[in-house]
Amino acid sequence: MAEVRLTNVEKRYSEDAFAVKGVSFGAADGEFVVLVGPSGCGKSTTLRMIAGLEELTAGEIQIGGIVVNDLQPKDRDVAMVFQNYALYPHMTVFENMAFPLKMRKIVKPQITQQVTDAARLLSIEHLLKRKPKELSGGERQRVAVGRAIVRRPKVFLFDEPLSNLDAALRTQMRAEIKRLQRRLGATMLYVTHDQVEAMTMGDKIAVMNKGLLEQFGTPAEIYEAPASVFVARFLGSPPMNLIEGRIDGKGVFSSSALTIDVKSSESREVFLGVRPERMRLIPASSEPAKGHISGKLLLVEPVGSLTHYYVEVPESVGGTFVVSVHDRDGLPGWEATYALGETVTMEVPATQLHLFDRKSEKRLS
Ligand SMILES: Nc1ncnc2c1ncn2[C@@H]1O[C@H](COP(=O)(O)OP(=O)(O)OP(=O)(O)O)[C@@H](O)[C@H]1O
Ligand SMILES: [Mg+2]
Repeated sequence: MAEVRLTNVEKRYSEDAFAVKGVSFGAADGEFVVLVGPSGCGKSTTLRMIAGLEELTAGEIQIGGIVVNDLQPKDRDVAMVFQNYALYPHMTVFENMAFPLKMRKIVKPQITQQVTDAARLLSIEHLLKRKPKELSGGERQRVAVGRAIVRRPKVFLFDEPLSNLDAALRTQMRAEIKRLQRRLGATMLYVTHDQVEAMTMGDKIAVMNKGLLEQFGTPAEIYEAPASVFVARFLGSPPMNLIEGRIDGKGVFSSSALTIDVKSSESREVFLGVRPERMRLIPASSEPAKGHISGKLLLVEPVGSLTHYYVEVPESVGGTFVVSVHDRDGLPGWEATYALGETVTMEVPATQLHLFDRKSEKRLS
């Protein structure tokens, strides 16, 4: 297996339109790196440049310490799984999986051995004689993965391989792919726009936005210290609550709806952020108190072990704050005692705050 490294990688399809701009990050040997971001942010383009299916406009890509910019896809020793699987419809599962080996002129007994091994690993031995149209979506997905792993390449590139599957199967395949990656000790770059997939599968996450790399780090780093407003709102569901206000140079944040102590001696316009699950609903207070924020209850959303409360808050991004309450906290969960339209009070914990510059939208240290 091998390490992958991108240095200032750029892709321009036309003079003025960047698809990818100044992107640098790496996947260590055996690491699982997820590229995540909204539609059109440059995820597939980045992956295709690593695979050699797209030329770089600028920058450098290394695989296993070797610059591969000018190498053909077949000489890079990478395997890619596409969103639509791209299986050959007229070939059986066996023939589909054997195809990359045949192309490399591997002898027949060895092809049979490697296909059988891969099929066993993916529990699809019983499907080897079928054609793709005789398979379910999940089975097709496994075959596509099988075709990628059969020749044990240095690096796996997966582009949204689960997006055609239903929610339950996606959860199952998510775990399977992660286990498979561990078992093979493979270096993997995995594209998704699903933040849950990113958080659960990645050793590291690369968050992209409009062709730029917004942040690169472990899921915990990205969740606990998002580098920008974009990252703060992209990872986490419901997203982080943000409210406009200013910090006064003496460690106090204020806006019309909320005043709270912060650990910053700067003076500037900011967004203050707090995650829904870090806040609490408390008995309604009529007196405004530090760290308390009151508003009209707009919506209650029970999702099982959690209940989300949407509260109208002036100056907040999107006009609402969300509080997520665990039913086992002894706090109101399912059997909420609050009525829609009622004024409720939320407590913002002083230790769980994020500050972002209002103009640049970057995190303040
Ligand atoms: N062949 C092409 N010619 C011109 N522009 C392209 C081409 N391929 C992609 N783009 C543009 O480059 C940008 C990035 O595209 P890319 O496919 O990498 O996005 P993505 O992050 O994979 O999005 P999605 O989640 O929708 O798959 C988009 O604005 C897209 O329109
Ligand atoms: Mg894409």
